Amino acid sequence: MSVGKTSRIPGFYKLSVEERLKIVQEFAGLTDEEVKLLLAPGGLGLDIADRMIENVIGTIQMPLAVAVNFLINGKEYLVPMAIEEPSVVAAASNAAKICRSKGGIRASTTDPIMIGQIQVVKVKDPYRARMDVLAAKEEIIEKANEQDPILVKLGGGAKDVDAKVIHTPVGPMVIVELHVDCRDAMGANAVNTMAEAVAPLIERITGGTVRLRIITNLAVKRLARAWVVVDKEAVGGEEVVDGIVEAWAFAASDPYRAATHNKGIMNGVIAVALATCNDHRALEAGAHAYAARSGHYTTLSFWEKNEDGDLVGTLEMPMAVGIVGGATKVHPVARIALKILGVKTARELAEVMAAVGLAQNLAALRALATEGIQRGHMKLHARNIAISVGATGELVDIIVQRMVEEGKIRMDRAKELLEELTRERGLQT
Ligand code: MEV
Repeated sequence: MSVGKTSRIPGFYKLSVEERLKIVQEFAGLTDEEVKLLLAPGGLGLDIADRMIENVIGTIQMPLAVAVNFLINGKEYLVPMAIEEPSVVAAASNAAKICRSKGGIRASTTDPIMIGQIQVVKVKDPYRARMDVLAAKEEIIEKANEQDPILVKLGGGAKDVDAKVIHTPVGPMVIVELHVDCRDAMGANAVNTMAEAVAPLIERITGGTVRLRIITNLAVKRLARAWVVVDKEAVGGEEVVDGIVEAWAFAASDPYRAATHNKGIMNGVIAVALATCNDHRALEAGAHAYAARSGHYTTLSFWEKNEDGDLVGTLEMPMAVGIVGGATKVHPVARIALKILGVKTARELAEVMAAVGLAQNLAALRALATEGIQRGHMKLHARNIAISVGATGELVDIIVQRMVEEGKIRMDRAKELLEELTRERGLQT
């Protein structure tokens, strides 16, 4: 429980970038150097970028924001989000605010277990081979753990082995699955190294030929869960609660809607993944595969009304994220993002991300079930248009307001207004 600091910051969006940064600096204890880095274009030096991937020719920038108002498991969080889409951060902050009405969002995680798959083909008696693999579990685990003594020392490492026979278009295969506790790492490197290292042993045990040795992104053993009770008045009344439950029910029954429902959740999850330099493709793959695990693609979240008429939301999804290793530690801005979040473990990061996904989902459903999302979106869209025709300073706000009032949010109108206003102002001075 954090005493004395709060993420509930009314009017945060009205402050200048510098004023916001000052608040974040105090909240997270950022050094002046770190603040300077956040203000520097890109933050990521070319020298580091050139070592991160191949054939580097530059860096691409994206807005980095913080969502305010997040109270998760009784702790206050400012949540860094990197995203190109307007209104996502505002929506998350807004939903986080109403989620405080009954004590904030709760979240939990399973142990950070990732699964490495080893594909064995040309096995004569696949079911018998499966038994042999299971009987040799301890030997396989020991071989795997030799690859990463540090992870083992930290309490992680290979913990279990499973095996299954699958029937494929080219015949039966034995799939051996290595369960690895990755602690604070996302774990792909550790798991893939272990899967490759045990392959000769698996060939010996099964008499077959090992082909693929790779982690699965359907991380069913590394789940994050978030849940919230929202006071019906804070949501906008019982009618809105019903509208949200109906919106969820639509998605639960129709994959076309479920895809967009889940996209709304991923708006929040991926924005935090990008800010902290986590593998967002792994998260997307895991989320959608998890949503389809019953054979029917459905929602990752559930919304219902309790006996008091309040809204209850729950979310469960794979959340393979790390705070050590990989780009998380290399990218200077990602390191600052983690410092702003103040998370101590990968599990805590996963819990925050699930909470953000749930809040993001709530914001979208609430808007969709009431006034629709276009009003909020169009205002932000108008801002982008005003800026793109060259408006600066207060002219941006004036042009946005005029275009919204007129219902004409277009480049040509923005240009006209900019010319008009510049002329008027020119005459005034
Ligand atoms: C837009 O980025 C996300 C939404 O479409 C999500 C949803 O429909 O639930 C608004």
